[in-house]
Amino acid sequence: MGIKGDTERQATLRNEMIKRRKRPMRSNYVLKISSVVKPWMKLLDVGCGTAHIIEDLAVRHENAIFLGLDVSPAMLKIAKLNTMRLPNVILVEGDGLKLPFLDCSFDVVIVRLAEYSPHEVYRVLKKGGFFLEYGLGPEANKEIVEFFQGRIEKENFFFPKNFEDWKKEVCEKVADAGFLVESLDDYKEREYHRSIEELMNLIEMVPLVKNFDREKDKETVNILAKRYWSKKGIQITWHYYILIAKRF
Ligand SMILES: C[S@@+](CC[C@H](N)C(=O)[O-])C[C@H]1O[C@@H](n2cnc3c(N)ncnc32)[C@H](O)[C@@H]1O
Repeated sequence: MGIKGDTERQATLRNEMIKRRKRPMRSNYVLKISSVVKPWMKLLDVGCGTAHIIEDLAVRHENAIFLGLDVSPAMLKIAKLNTMRLPNVILVEGDGLKLPFLDCSFDVVIVRLAEYSPHEVYRVLKKGGFFLEYGLGPEANKEIVEFFQGRIEKENFFFPKNFEDWKKEVCEKVADAGFLVESLDDYKEREYHRSIEELMNLIEMVPLVKNFDREKDKETVNILAKRYWSKKGIQITWHYYILIAKRF
């Protein structure tokens, strides 16, 4: 991630990956968000990226308003293309750490794998509003971590800092801002990458590995791919959580 969020290359890779995978990885999240969205509500997605989450939601809830905020102009360019047919989607360039909105502006705020401030989210939520966060558990991409030990971009990526007690860490972060945590569930899934190229796209897009070089690191990725090859493709673990918190 650069100074202003994701680059054009990361934005393109992310968009292609999301389009290829269709919905399964995020369906739990979209369903949970859908359960709290009612007609005429205003929802904010902080760090919306390509806007694939609000795109799904805006189709399901035609009478609610969806605002996507991202710091990266490259991401917003793609987000605009993905949502231009949807009149209930608005996109804004801005910083998740300093939200450009008045207090108590939204009924629901969501964040999926993006930089944000829990205090800012609390401030812009209405009383009784919901916050839903999708983050990574400690086993996410563990096969890649195993092969690139010592080179993982832990600061850029949204790994929990405390692997032992990661659920406590996730809950405390939002409770400290004033939220009441309603639930925290985690899920483990298998992702299958059909080729070495696809796997390299994932590593480069996140970015997951420091100074990753497609040429120099090809041999390591080849060995990783052989080790985790299955009939469906190269098997990589996806471990994520969904937190639901409420502002009273
Ligand atoms: C890993 S991507 C996730 C995008 C999207 N939420 C998704 O689930 O596909 C992280 C996103 O956060 C954005 N981002 C990074 N820092 C940010 C900040 N301070 N404020 C707003 N967006 C930010 C990046 O530009 C990028 O679009």
